[in-house]
Amino acid sequence: MTSTKFLSHAEFGPIHFKNRVFMAPMTRSRAPQNVPTDLMVEYYTQRASAGLIFSEGTQISPQGVGYIFTPGIHTEEQIKGWKKITSSVHGAGGLIFCQLWHVGRVSHPEFQNGQLPVAPSAIPFKGQAFTLKGPMDTVTPRALTLDEVKSTINDFKNAALAAKSAGFDGVEIHGANGYLPAQFLEDGSNQRTDQYGGSIENRARFLLEITDAAIGVWGPERVSVRLSPRNPFNGMSDSQPEKTYLYVIEQLQKRKLGILHFMESVQLPQGIKPLAPEVRKIFSGFLVLNSGYDRESAGSVVERGGADAVSFGSLFIANPDLPERFAKKAHLATPEKSTFYGGDSKGYTDYPKLDHEKKSG
Ligand SMILES: Cc1cc2nc3c(=O)[nH]c(=O)nc-3n(C[C@H](O)[C@H](O)[C@H](O)COP(=O)(O)O)c2cc1C
Repeated sequence: MTSTKFLSHAEFGPIHFKNRVFMAPMTRSRAPQNVPTDLMVEYYTQRASAGLIFSEGTQISPQGVGYIFTPGIHTEEQIKGWKKITSSVHGAGGLIFCQLWHVGRVSHPEFQNGQLPVAPSAIPFKGQAFTLKGPMDTVTPRALTLDEVKSTINDFKNAALAAKSAGFDGVEIHGANGYLPAQFLEDGSNQRTDQYGGSIENRARFLLEITDAAIGVWGPERVSVRLSPRNPFNGMSDSQPEKTYLYVIEQLQKRKLGILHFMESVQLPQGIKPLAPEVRKIFSGFLVLNSGYDRESAGSVVERGGADAVSFGSLFIANPDLPERFAKKAHLATPEKSTFYGGDSKGYTDYPKLDHEKKSG
């Protein structure tokens, strides 16, 4: 049975979430000039019934780009484009946070005018970048100088300010999935010898300083941090992931961070102990869990107090009215993977709402 709590509203400081079915951030690569388009206005507005929408990863600077056709939030044109989205989502009764993104070593010279991508240390990983010329092998990045680390933190601050001008309801720091903040955090990708490398405290400094910058702009309640411990995506590894991440979460708690968006698969391999219950004990803000949840598992974790909300990725792609479908225990459409990234309205804005599905089927 799905709990009613899961579908019910939540009051969190100044924020009213109309339900606890959140939309996870999803890159859809439909911004050809890195500027949000009118098609994106339609896509996000269709999903405004989510308790909160996390925007797709949105680069904080040209250096932060790592994929084709992803939007940014560092030019006037981009801010103007996002304004249309936020005001349309608000008009439809929704809330939307901007996910602030810098991919670090996951970028490619193709995106950097031939220059090397940057990272905490010059440590490559085996992977492929998806460029206009097609998939290309990743390269060894260049280590940021100390001055550049500081200016990158400032880029995050400017992006947080730009998100405010663009009418967002808050920001999420993308600290997950092996991008720049995670590259600083985990020792597999960080061998710096200055105050941003070495001990856990030093490796966490970059993420925490970005968070402080975002809190300075928005206040703690309107800042979310996304983390994905023990996630090998993008060549990531850490020698003590539990210790590293629990330290970070303790520090976020000290800052009274509003939202912690914690990625941990609902179905972990046998023998792997979930960290989410530990996180719940340490973190007293709004805890959003993600990865692999369905109506039953999400309803049950919220009902027993293991999370305040759950975010859904792929289910929101194919079911724009997901909260209503959950409430009605209705049929869920399956997303088409070939249209996840890039293309036009097909597989993007043409998934019908339940009432239309019924009429046509
Ligand atoms: C097409 C696609 C794009 C994604 N892009 C992002 C992104 O930009 N930022 C991010 O933090 N996670 C991204 N993710 C991960 C999702 O936010 C989510 O964690 C993942 O889909 C697991 O949740 P689910 O099981 O509900 O789908 C993406 C996932 C998909 C399917």
